[in-house]
Amino acid sequence: MNEIQEKTYLPVNIAGINFHNPFVVGSGPTVKTVDMIRKIDEAGWGAAFIKLTIDPEPYISRDPRYSWWKKEKLHTFTLEKRIKLDEALRLCEGGKKYAKVTKIFSNITYEGPAGIDGWVKMAKAFEDAGADGNELNMCCPNMSFNVEITGEKTDHKTGASLGQCPSDVAAIVKAIKAETKIPLVVKLTPESGGIAQVAKSTYEAGADIVASVGNRLGVPPIKIENPFESTQRLNIDNGLTTLSGPWLKPLALRDVYEIRTLNSGNYPIIGYGGMSNWKDYLEMIMMGANMIGICTDTMIRGYNFLYKEIDKLKNYLERHNYSSINEIRGLLLPTVKPATTLKTKEAVAVVNTDNCTGCELCTPIGHCYAIAMVEGKGMEGKNRKGIVANVDPYNCTGCSTCFDVCPTNAFEWNDVPKDRSITPV
Ligand SMILES: Cc1cc2nc3c(=O)[nH]c(=O)nc-3n(C[C@H](O)[C@H](O)[C@H](O)COP(=O)(O)O)c2cc1C
Ligand code: SF4
Ligand code: SF4
Repeated sequence: MNEIQEKTYLPVNIAGINFHNPFVVGSGPTVKTVDMIRKIDEAGWGAAFIKLTIDPEPYISRDPRYSWWKKEKLHTFTLEKRIKLDEALRLCEGGKKYAKVTKIFSNITYEGPAGIDGWVKMAKAFEDAGADGNELNMCCPNMSFNVEITGEKTDHKTGASLGQCPSDVAAIVKAIKAETKIPLVVKLTPESGGIAQVAKSTYEAGADIVASVGNRLGVPPIKIENPFESTQRLNIDNGLTTLSGPWLKPLALRDVYEIRTLNSGNYPIIGYGGMSNWKDYLEMIMMGANMIGICTDTMIRGYNFLYKEIDKLKNYLERHNYSSINEIRGLLLPTVKPATTLKTKEAVAVVNTDNCTGCELCTPIGHCYAIAMVEGKGMEGKNRKGIVANVDPYNCTGCSTCFDVCPTNAFEWNDVPKDRSITPV
């Protein structure tokens, strides 16, 4: 092991595989060449999932068009290159020769006349090429799903279109499991609105691991002064884009939460979507993920950041007296309560007038009947108008929007008046 591989050692055993750590480079543009796999391995990643391989021929495969919206923490792409089976098998064999610590998985779609047999043949071909596991792409939103959403007709049904059909996915899983020995991952789309149900049928059909892709299809930012010009560089037309990156995290956490909650067994999950630092990884694990999948961050930062993030994560575990990552997996699941029984504290807002500049930013809050400006000295030297905000505790619901609006943190909590008998609007 090189020095970095030693630093990234955080072993986990999942689906019978000993992974160097639970961090994987997701299928995408950063797992497309043997050289990339070499770098991934040297940077100590637990696994790498080869770029989507389509057999017979990728029916949409074009020069990529990416945009990284730094301020929005959003990555978008309209077009992407997929790879052919022969090329991917050579990549798998080549990568296996280099990889000392990184396990190598396929990411496959069959969409020819052989139907399920075609899927099985592809999976077996990767097994023969030395892959540590296969992954079924039941998630890509930017092929037939993109075409359907734009209102065009298509005979193709792959990625996020196919991944919405529990019975179709289960039939493919069953057939592959009957003919191959290596673990099978199924990477699912949330676009169906029923990711947990599809996951359930996938597990029941024998899948070893479920991955939640995280990304969604959406509309990229629009240049409002010239809305006909695409904001995606080198795009002439506007197009739907696949959205990924940090903005996605709350939705991605929910996907994993949902899969974990509906499937009571201890099934392994790879959680993808907006993972960009050790804190994100911890949140995802606390929501029930066994492994963390990362794509966008490797596009922007390369592969060599992992050891630094793992170091901070290990430090967190130590500080909080956790002996291993297993101890925090799913830690937050039982704490998530339904809206019917979610416990809350009762309180009303009150203004600490020493911090009030009289700026009046809190008075327009549309849903609030409690705030009014009154005469008062306010913040020393900063309150020129001699007015301060005041909260009527009989009309305060405790919603807390004023805390977010006030630039000087003047709002605090106080007890609900004992004699308040009417619930405020
Ligand atoms: C440019 C790009 C290409 C991708 N290609 C694939 C792919 O070929 N197969 C796949 O299963 N997922 C693909 N993904 C999805 C990622 O692997 C990942 O699940 C998703 O982007 C969410 O994670 P992230 O926010 O870390 O990118 C791609 C993502 C991006 C941004
Ligand atoms: S907590 Fe909500 S209701 Fe109460 S004063 Fe603030 S904004 Fe108004
Ligand atoms: S937003 Fe804050 S500083 Fe401005 S008036 Fe309201 S309480 Fe005072």
